Amino acid sequence: MTNIFAVILAAGKGTRMKSKLYKVLHPVCGKPMVEHVIDQISDLHTKKIVTIVGHGADEVKGYLGEKSVFALQEEQLGTAHAVMQAEEILGSEHGCTLVVCGDTPLIKSETMEALVNYHQKQNAKATILTGYTDAPDGYGRIIRNEDGMVERIVEHKDATAEERKVKEINTGTYCFDNRSLFEALKKVSNDNSQGEYYLPDVIEILKSAGEIVAAYQTEDFSETLGVNDRVALSQAEAIMQKRINRKHMQDGVTLISPQNTYIGSDVSIGADTVIYPGTIISGHTVIGRDCEIGPNSEISNCRIGDRTKVRQSVAADSEIGSGVNIGPFAHIRPASEIHDEVKVGNFVEIKKSVFGKGSKASHLSYIGDAEVGANVNIGCGSITVNYDGKNKHLTKIEDDVFIGCNSNLVAPVTVGKGAYVAAGSTITDDVPGEALSIARSRQVNKENYVQKLNFNK
Ligand code: UD1
Ligand code: CA
Repeated sequence: MTNIFAVILAAGKGTRMKSKLYKVLHPVCGKPMVEHVIDQISDLHTKKIVTIVGHGADEVKGYLGEKSVFALQEEQLGTAHAVMQAEEILGSEHGCTLVVCGDTPLIKSETMEALVNYHQKQNAKATILTGYTDAPDGYGRIIRNEDGMVERIVEHKDATAEERKVKEINTGTYCFDNRSLFEALKKVSNDNSQGEYYLPDVIEILKSAGEIVAAYQTEDFSETLGVNDRVALSQAEAIMQKRINRKHMQDGVTLISPQNTYIGSDVSIGADTVIYPGTIISGHTVIGRDCEIGPNSEISNCRIGDRTKVRQSVAADSEIGSGVNIGPFAHIRPASEIHDEVKVGNFVEIKKSVFGKGSKASHLSYIGDAEVGANVNIGCGSITVNYDGKNKHLTKIEDDVFIGCNSNLVAPVTVGKGAYVAAGSTITDDVPGEALSIARSRQVNKENYVQKLNFNK
């Protein structure tokens, strides 16, 4: 089997994005464009992936980590110059080299695989992935001869009026014979309107040397969208969103309104779960089966069990069990661990807390830095007083505790197993198990007091 290598071009600044964030790091469905490209390429079992970095090199490396090796392009002198930076790493290898732009996040591994197969079947030294579009502006055009054979690629800026009418474009993805690529790159000049070394010029160079150059046209043009500005970024987002949602629906997830449901590319959802509109699920979230999520909920990096409901709520970086009821209007903040069959009701905020099996906080509570046992009932309006202005302290509420409404648990404090806290208490000392603790002043009724106040009458 032929070795496959890949070069990803990601050194450009992305001037047209008008952003402080480097272009290839702009996320599409929550993941940087260049990471989409690499993840798709990784499915091809490539022997080596080299990412060319320049602008924002450290950030790009930081994101991609182990997924790629890197070559630095200090000055951005064009796409051919960029590929040349991989010569030290790849120059002596034998095999096929895919070159893909870091700003084409929609290309699928299946398409790249088909490109490689076609390239091998044609016995070509270079095969261009081309697309056909009624809006070719900005793309390089594929120029074919009378026999329909590819001759060269002309950049939009260098094209004549006649050439600009061509609707077949260069997607910026190619498959090359590795050795021929690095040989041809040496002959590329920068004699063009942008004064850059263009990678597409390699096509004409190989062709003139009598080599076989082929073109493989994609069926699905939307895959090849190059993101140069925010308009294209939003188009890429919409296409990717559709693709992700479709996959979930095919896998048995109900999306009530797919066009109003935003699911990140690394999210997994079990069958028979229903997602209501206005819901954003992102990061490495895993949701089980038979759940109901939304409407209008935001879930990032959470692990959720089966049969759990999350309505009109926000949850981040937390573990949520099975048969849990969250919301409406609840907020689960990072590092929380909500066990099975818990209820977290209206206007309840939970932060960095464990909430044991079957426990409930049904209304208007703040539970922060707490360990709540099983079968605990936290009455309406009760809170943990976890912050003294400087430090955060732990509240421990053991199993089967009943916290009456509107109580303050001033941490550090422990309420022992099975204890009761009377409504309106401010608990500053530990409560022993099975005890009833009342920490409020007694009620005084001053008879006829109002008559005394109304002395003018
Ligand atoms: C490029 C192609 C064009 C094709 C289009 C498809 C060239 C000259 N043109 O144009 O034929 O239709 O992609 O989307 O190749 N980069 C570097 N170093 C550089 C210059 C660019 O790493 O010196 C990287 C960029 O970060 C980007 C990619 O190469 O990821 C493509 O560069 P870009 O400037 O976006 O090229 P286009 O004008 O889109
Ligand atoms: Ca581009």
